[in-house]
Amino acid sequence: MKNFKNILMASAIIFSFILLTDASAQGVITKYYSPNPGVEKAFKVKQEESLVPEYVLPDLLISDNGKTIENAEMWWKIKRPELLSWFENQMYGKTPLFSMAIKDFLKNPIVEVRAEKKDALGGKATRREVRLHFTSDKKGFFIDLLIYIPNNVKKAVPAFTMLNFKGNQATTNEPDVFICESWVTGRKDGTEIRNKSTEKSRGVSQDRWPFEMIIDRGYAVATACYHDIDPDYDDGFQNGIHPYFYKKGQTRPDGNEWGSIGAWAWGLSRIMDYLETEPRINSKQVAVAGHSRLGKTSLWAGAQDQRFAIVISNNSGCGGAALSKRVFGENLDIINYVRPHWFCGNFKYYSNNENALGLDQHALMALIAPRPLYVASAEKDLWADPKGEFLSAINADPVYKLLGTEGAGNALNNVTKKKGNLIYDVKMPELNNPIGSIIHYHIRTGVHAVTNYDWEQYLSFADKYFKK
Ligand code: GCU
Repeated sequence: MKNFKNILMASAIIFSFILLTDASAQGVITKYYSPNPGVEKAFKVKQEESLVPEYVLPDLLISDNGKTIENAEMWWKIKRPELLSWFENQMYGKTPLFSMAIKDFLKNPIVEVRAEKKDALGGKATRREVRLHFTSDKKGFFIDLLIYIPNNVKKAVPAFTMLNFKGNQATTNEPDVFICESWVTGRKDGTEIRNKSTEKSRGVSQDRWPFEMIIDRGYAVATACYHDIDPDYDDGFQNGIHPYFYKKGQTRPDGNEWGSIGAWAWGLSRIMDYLETEPRINSKQVAVAGHSRLGKTSLWAGAQDQRFAIVISNNSGCGGAALSKRVFGENLDIINYVRPHWFCGNFKYYSNNENALGLDQHALMALIAPRPLYVASAEKDLWADPKGEFLSAINADPVYKLLGTEGAGNALNNVTKKKGNLIYDVKMPELNNPIGSIIHYHIRTGVHAVTNYDWEQYLSFADKYFKK
C-alpha cells in the first residue's frame, strides 16, 4: 500500500514537472486546485498578452434582433432589459422576488440596535451596530451591520457601503465591536476556530478600512460580513439566504437562479434599504464598493439596484470587471471549478467556452450607466487581468455617451485598436494615475488589495459627483 502511494506521489511530481516545464515554455503558468480534498485538477493560466485569443465583443448599441439603439429611450426600453436578463439567466442568476419567499420571511426586517457609541474613533464618529432580523422570531436569517457616521455635521452625509470578508470586528481595532457570529472560512492562524471568529481576529483587516480617513472626508460607511448573507463555500445552497426563497419542494436554485454573488448583492440592497431609514445618511448619495469577489458583487448589485449612486470595483477580475473573452489570468473554467457556487448553474456552460458567451463584462459596466463607475486594478494582480478590467470599463463608453455623459473621457486617448463601437486594445494608463471621466480607472502599484491610495481616489471621485 505504502509503495503504491509512493509510486503515485512520484508520478504526480513527474507529471506536474512536465506540465510546469511545458507550461513555462509557452508562457503559461500551471495552477493546481482542489476545492474538495482528493480532486486536484491542473489548470493552464495564460498571463501574457501574446496569448490572448482573437475574440469578438458584442455591440452594446445593437438590440438582440438587430436594431440600432439610437437614443436613451431605446436604451432603457429595449437594450438595458436585454442585457440585465442575460446576466440573470446566464451568469449571476435571478434574484428571487419577495412574493416567492416563505411565509415568515420579512420584507421589512426587524431592526435591532445592538449598540451605539457616540464617541467612536476618538469622538469623530458615531458607531452604530444594527442587526437586521429577517424572521419574526428573530432566530433565523440576520445581517449584522457596522456603521460609522461623522459627528458634528449639519446635514445628512453621503456614504460608502462595502461588504467585508472576516467579520465587522476585523475591520477596526476598536475593542468593543461585536464579533461576527457567522461561519467563517477556517483560517489556521487563530483568528478563527472551527469556522468561528475569535478575539484574535479584531482589526486584522483594518488596513483595508481607513475609517478615520473616510469620516474626516465627511462620509459615513456601512459594512457587514458577506458570510452573514451566504457563507462562502459550496454546500449546495443549504445555508445562508437561498433556502428562504425555495418554492415548495425545491432544494437548490434552478440553473438560472442566484448563486452566492447574487445573494451577496441582494444583501447590499438590504443594507441600502436600511440606509434609507437612517436620517443622518443621504441615501441618494450612497456609493457601493467591493474588493475582489466582493467587487464582482458590488458591480452586480449596482447593475440591478439603481439606488446605488456610484459603483466601485476594486480588483474584481474574472466574473467582475475583467473581460472573460480575453481568457487572461483567471478564466471561467477555473472560477467555475473552484467556486462553483458563485454563479448560477447555467454559467458552467461557458467553462472553456468563452466564444459562446453572448455578452461580456463591458455589458455589466453599461448596466451601471449613467451613474459614475470606478474600476481599479493593481499592477501585480495579473490574475484579475488589469487590461481586461480597463477594456471592459471603457467599452461602456458608447452607452454612457448615449445617456448624455462624458463617458470614459480622456481614457479614450489610450485606445489603440477599435472596430466600430468596440475597443479591442489600449495603451495601459500610467501607474497611480487615474484617468477617465464618469467612467474612471486607475492601476496602482502593488498587489491585489484595498489600499489607502484606492480609498483616496474613491473619496475624490465621490466628492466630484456628490458635489461636496
Ligand atoms: C480568488 C479568486 C478570484 C477572487 C479572489 C478574491 O483569487 O480566484 O476570482 O476575486 O479570490 O475574492 O479574493
